[in-house]
Parts: sequence; structure tokens; C-alpha cells
Amino acid sequence: MTSTTPQQQRPQRIAFLPGDGVGRDVGAEAVKVLEATAERFSLDLELEHFPWSADHYLETGVTLPDGAVEDFQERFAAIFVGAFGDPRVPDMKHAADILLGLRFRLDLFINQRPVRLWNESLCPLRDKKARDVDFVVFRENTEGAYVGSGGNFKVGTPHEIATQEEIHTRLGVERIVRAAFDFAVAHGRREVCMTDKSNAQRFVGDLWQRTFVEVARDYPQIETRHLYVDALAMLLVREPESFDVIVANNMFGDIITDLGAALQGGMGVAASANLHPGRVSMFEPVHGSAPPLAGTGRANPIGAVQSIAMMLDYLGHRGASDAIEAAIVESLTAGAMTPDLGGSATTSEVGDRLARTVSATPVDGPAALQCEETP
Ligand SMILES: NC(=O)c1ccc[n+]([C@@H]2O[C@H](COP(=O)([O-])OP(=O)(O)OC[C@H]3O[C@@H](n4cnc5c(N)ncnc54)[C@H](O)[C@@H]3O)[C@@H](O)[C@H]2O)c1
Repeated sequence: MTSTTPQQQRPQRIAFLPGDGVGRDVGAEAVKVLEATAERFSLDLELEHFPWSADHYLETGVTLPDGAVEDFQERFAAIFVGAFGDPRVPDMKHAADILLGLRFRLDLFINQRPVRLWNESLCPLRDKKARDVDFVVFRENTEGAYVGSGGNFKVGTPHEIATQEEIHTRLGVERIVRAAFDFAVAHGRREVCMTDKSNAQRFVGDLWQRTFVEVARDYPQIETRHLYVDALAMLLVREPESFDVIVANNMFGDIITDLGAALQGGMGVAASANLHPGRVSMFEPVHGSAPPLAGTGRANPIGAVQSIAMMLDYLGHRGASDAIEAAIVESLTAGAMTPDLGGSATTSEVGDRLARTVSATPVDGPAALQCEETP
């Protein structure tokens, strides 16, 4: 007997969680481009909207409802997230429950963040060509400093103590390292660089070092490099062209991908995928909810739209994904940019242009994207 995964089922169902702030603004453009792409490439997709956000939490007290994780596992091929974060929820409870909750409970152990210079005018470094900034970071996504282990004592006194523990497991380290090598092989990349701080964090460093060396033996065609994360930060600025694939723990991956975002033009253009190969996976722009930008028409939708391209690639629609990337390049080349990139276009003007360009991509096919609201 054979069973099909949600990725193999038709229609492929996509859960859409725009969240808070600019997450809604860029999410609307992401849907616009997704609909245009589905129509152009005859993709059998079904989009379901979920209202979970700060507003929803403040109204109902609910963050991630009971049964949501199981529902996503059973019925959905992918999840698209805008951003979470609202000053009215200072402890970020809803964001932690929804975003970290989904990453951890769906065991989305790969956080894949491509850093690609779509247009060389966007690079803050002198004399860098588009081909000089083209690497992919594999950030471990379920362990490390983000497991919330630790505590405090005598808070507010001169003797206050705080501890924050990192958890790294052999299984967790091995699977993210292997994912980086598998990606390098599948995409014709030359090298995998592992970064850590093993000169200061000896025990964790030892686990990462040994695992990296052992896994690398299975990929003799891929070159390897190790860099302490401080040295890596310096080299990413001095010679980004020397990087291909980088694998890092949860916190270092988080930090170096913001640096990567700056190299490609800023937070507005950075995209990411939270993956567990073969299972429902989640796609989101790297940026947060940027409250001052929300509703102003100044948010850049490219990071969100590129996340849609990554999602379609994951769902097996490579041609559709390529068409979106080509539309991003066309838009930037034409100077259709939001203010963060030095342009004067609005969020929806960029989204409209991307959708129009994808619609004009030379392929045939009828519409198949349906949208429905989930209360
Ligand atoms: N994945 C997520 O949902 C996520 C990630 C980071 C931060 N946050 C949350 O978002 C809120 C704001 O955090 P922050 O200000 O540190 O980070 P942020 O990413 O929201 O903003 C950082 C900078 O990038 C700019 N920026 C962000 N998105 C942009 C876009 N689409 N176009 C143009 N410029 C953009 C902002 O204006 C700001 O200058 C906080 O509540 C934070 O916890 C959420």
C-alpha cells in the first residue's frame, strides 16, 4: 500500500499566516504573485488564510490553537508566514507560540537562507558584482540557544543571577550538516564552510567539529572549511565571493544572515525556508513586523515574494519558482524599488509589477488557485 504526503496530494494546500505589521503588507503582495504564478503555470494550489496575530491574541487570548500543528501536518503541503511582533505584546508570547512553536513542533530543523545580490547597485560593498554575493546559509533551527533553557535568581538585587543554556545534540548537528552537504551536491556548489566558536565554547564546539569532519567523509567531492564565527563575519564583508554554503548553529546562523541580508540590499529582500524534507515546511521573509513601516506602503515585498519562490521550488514547481526570481531581477533592473532600496515605488506597485511579469512568462495554462477564509 502506498500513502501520499501532503506535498504529493492535489491540490497542494498552503496555509497563509500574514501575522502582524508589515507581515500583512508584504503577505498581500506575496499572495498576489502566488495567484499570478499559479494561473500562469497551471498549479493546483489551494490557499487557506489563518488570522493568528497580535490582534487575534488580544481579542481571544489564543496564540496557536490546539490541533493546529496536527492540522498542518495532515492537510497542508506548506505554510507561508509574514511576520510576528507587536509592541502591545511586549513579551512576544503570540510570536513565540506561533513562530517558534511551528518551527519546533513541526521539527523544521533546516533554516535555509539564500544570500544573493539580485542587483549589484544594492550591495553596500565597493566594486562587488552580482556573482560575488551568492551563498546559502544553513542555520540549525530547533536547538542551540533558542530552546529556552535557563533561569534566574534574586532578580532585581545586586546578587541577581541569570543562566541561559544551549542544547546541541548529535542528531541535531548531524542532520543540519548533512542538509548543507546534500544541498551543495544537488546545486553544484564547491564548498561547505562550518562556523562555530569552538575556541571559547569547547564542548559544543567539539561536537560540531567532530560531526562536521565525519559527515564530510560522505561527500568527498565537496571541499570543506572551518571558520570561527568572528573571523567569518569579517570575511563575509571582505570577500563574500569566497563563500558557497555555510552551516551554523541556531544563534550564529541568525546573526550572520542579517549580515547577509545587508550584503544583498537589506532586510526587505531577504527570504528564508524552514524545512523538514518530505514534510510540511514553512516559508517566510527574514525580516520582522517593522511596526513603523506597517500600512505606509513603504515595506519591500521582495523578501516575501522570494520566499514564495522558495516554497514553489520545495513543492516541485521549479519553473514557476524561476519565473518569480526572474521577475524580481526584472523589477530591480527597471528601478521599481521601495524606499529602503532608494526607490519611490510602493509595496503594492512592486507586487503588481512582479505579478504582471510572471503572468507574461511564456508558458500556457489555466487558473487553479482558490482562496478561502478560515475563521
Ligand atoms: N520572523 C519574525 O516574525 C521576526 C523576525 C525579527 C523580528 N521580529 C519582530 O518584529 C518586530 C520588529 O523588530 P525589528 O525592528 O528588530 O526587526 P525588523 O526586521 O522588523 O526591522 C529591522 C529593520 O529592517 C527594516 N525592514 C524590515 N522589514 C522591511 C521591509 N519589508 N521593507 C523594508 N524595510 C524593512 C525595518 O524598517 C528596520 O529598519 C519585533 O517585535 C521583533 O520581535 C519578528
